Parts: sequence; structure tokens; C-alpha cells
Amino acid sequence: MPNIVVVGAQWGDEGKGKVIDLLTPSYNYVVRYQGGNNAGHTVVSGNEKFVLHLVPSGVLHKNKICIIGPGVVVDPKALIEEIEMLKSKGIDVEGRLFISEQAHVIFPYHRTIDELKETKKGKAKIGTTKKGIGPCYADKVARSGIRMVDLLNDEVFTKRLKENLSEKNAILKTLYDFKGFFFDEIHSLYIGYRDRIKKYIVDTTVMLDEAVRKKKSIVFEGAQGTHLDVDCGTYPFVTSSNSTAGGACAGSGVGPTKIDKVVGVVKAYTTRVGEGPFPTEFPGDLMNEIRSRGGEYGATTGRPRRCGWFDACLVRRSIIVNGMKEIAVTKLDVLDKLPSIKICTAYKYKDKIYENFPSDIEVLTNCEPIYKEYKGWQKDTTTITSYIKLPSNAKAYLREIEKLLRTKIGLISVGQDRKQAFVIE
Ligand code: IMP
Repeated sequence: MPNIVVVGAQWGDEGKGKVIDLLTPSYNYVVRYQGGNNAGHTVVSGNEKFVLHLVPSGVLHKNKICIIGPGVVVDPKALIEEIEMLKSKGIDVEGRLFISEQAHVIFPYHRTIDELKETKKGKAKIGTTKKGIGPCYADKVARSGIRMVDLLNDEVFTKRLKENLSEKNAILKTLYDFKGFFFDEIHSLYIGYRDRIKKYIVDTTVMLDEAVRKKKSIVFEGAQGTHLDVDCGTYPFVTSSNSTAGGACAGSGVGPTKIDKVVGVVKAYTTRVGEGPFPTEFPGDLMNEIRSRGGEYGATTGRPRRCGWFDACLVRRSIIVNGMKEIAVTKLDVLDKLPSIKICTAYKYKDKIYENFPSDIEVLTNCEPIYKEYKGWQKDTTTITSYIKLPSNAKAYLREIEKLLRTKIGLISVGQDRKQAFVIE
């Protein structure tokens, strides 16, 4: 199988977990390459529902090797809880879960800074998940972070933790009048975590190199979505990592010549959780209807997701920045009851038409979307098992998406369960 990157083409929560779960049987390795436990990948199989935050979604399939790459930020407490949750449901990760020794570690001060910074921003907040993701990446880029490999070396860990605490406590006191953290408490807590996870910590770069040499196949599991990417997204309303396909290389230690294909996942409409511009956001009634039909509540924070029409302008940008050759459309069934459906094709701002997705937050916040309207299909699609059997208006809607994006749809999902999806040949 070709080595493939699966990325979200909107603002996250597109259903990547399900797509990766469907792909996994044909692959040997599943690799997370960025983000942390801000992600919430939901996979439903029969009556069992799994929400994964850090462990790659491929873990639900026996014998598949799951890797948390160098580009991921790991909260060891969250990781241990997730491993325990999986064990309690009969899924054993021993011998097939590996964490890069280069992955950075999230500490309690990261979570606290995330929370205090958001509170201080008031109305200008980003709406983060408060998991400490941004502050941990900030330390990594500032070259003061602590990696998994540092946790394994007592001398290095002690030194770096002391340095970090002296800086963080000063910031916390000065800017937020927060009491700060004690070295002994964090040190002993993290030594405890380290002892529980050290068996998983390895040089995943060498491991993946060997896999590539042996012609094993790899799925790179993107978290969040293209427009939350720190470089390509709706900055500053973004996460702090490269959630686009380019991030797969640096974040896994696998070079670009070893990656064959990029698949984007899109919802049949759009959602966003957290603050930031969202040109096609629904007015109140429709928002409530789609939110409740689509179960649009954050898998990590439980926050209600903002919902809106499909935005072809937004996804066209994703096709470009990720080099996608194919997309998977999820949650088509959520639109089943609507009498008419809109797609945004461009934006208008101060008499100027924007066909390309603008970077200026002012334009994005105040623009007026230009829509094309289509007849709904008003039929249940949740039991449909092939493209050919879809109602003709649903096919017309999907063909229009392909036309506007100039990209083919390879897979359609019509419900949460593994069985509710089909490939288009
Ligand atoms: P952070 O990643 O917690 O710093 O949050 C930054 C922004 O990304 C916020 O708007 C979050 O709601 C959003 N975000 C982070 N992770 C996800 C995700 O997995 N799905 C959707 N939005 C996310």
C-alpha cells in the first residue's frame, strides 16, 4: 500500500478517526505526528464508542503498530489514562505502542498558563482546549522544552525542570499573581509517570526507517484541521502545530520522498470549535438543528461546535496546501432532512470578490459568503452502501463539491459506525 497522510481539510473534527480506522486493516503502522490530547478522534464499532486523544486511531486493530511521533506533545497523565481506558475495553497496546524519545512533554504549568492566558484575553481569547498545547509548543520553539528522552535522564530532567520552574513561576507570579509550582511535587509526579511509560519510549525515527526499508505501509494520522495549522490556518485562531500534510514529515521523522499520497477529510458541511472567523456559520435555528443531528459537541472538551454550510473556498485552500489528490466526505446523512443546501463559492468584502481564501482576519470576519443553492434530497442515506444508490440530489451535491474543488471524492460516510461508509471506485 502507498504511504498515506490523512488530514482534516476544515477546522478539525471532520471524521479523520473513522477514516483512519477504515484504512488501518490495509496498513502496518499508524503514526500521529502533531498536536496532543487537544485532539479527540472518535471511532464507533457496533455498540462500542472510542474517543482517542493521543494514541493513534489504528490501535483498535490488533497487531497494528502505533507511533506517537517527535512532533506530538504528550501529557503523560492523559496518555496513561488512555492506555488504561483501552485496556479496560480489552485493547492491549503492549509491544505495539511506541513514543518518540524526541516528543515534548506537557507539564502542569503548561496547562495553567494556557488557562490563565485565555482568561486574561477575555473576549479576544482563542478558545483553546486548555490542555497546555500552545505553551508546550512555545517552550519547544524557545528551546526550553523537556522531551521524553530528557525524562529518562535524571540529571538532565532535574536541571531542565528547575530552569523551567524558575522562569514559569516568575511569569505566573508577575503576570497572573499565581502562586506557582514546587519542584519536588512535579519531579516526583513525573518520575512516577516516566516509570510507567518508559517501556514505550524509543527512537521511532529509526523504527520507521526500518519499516520503510521493509516496504511496510504507513498511515500518518493528522489531528485538528488545515485551517488550525499554525502557518496555513486562520492565525491567530489556530492550534500551535503544523496540522497540514507537510507536518507529517518533520513530525514523524520520515522524509517527503517516502510519502505517496495525501487524503483530505471533509464534513458535508462545516464546523468549528473555539473562537475565530467562520464566514458560513449558520443562523440560530439551523445551527441547533444540525448540531443536534450531527452530535456536534467537542470530543475533548464537550463544547458545542459552531456549524455552517460547506465552504468550497476554505477547502480549495486545503487542497492546495496539502497537495490532496482525493477527499473523503463524512456526515452526509446529517443533511438528509434539509429542503435546500448551500455551498459557499467565494466571499464579498467591500465590493471586492475573493475567490481565494483570504488571510486577513478582518476580511474573513466581515465578508459576506457568496452561495450556490441546491435542492436537498430529503431521504434517509444512513443505510446506503454504495454511491449508485444515493438519492440523485445527494449525488448532484457531491458532484458539485468535486467540481468546485477540482478533486475527486474517494469515500463517503453516512453514519458513525464503521459499516456506514463506502468507497467510490
Ligand atoms: P489548542 O490546540 O488547545 O491550543 O486550541 C487552539 C484552537 O484549536 C481552538 O480553537 C481549539 O478549539 C481548536 N482545536 C484544537 N484541537 C482541536 C480538535 O481536535 N478539533 C477541533 N478543534 C480543535
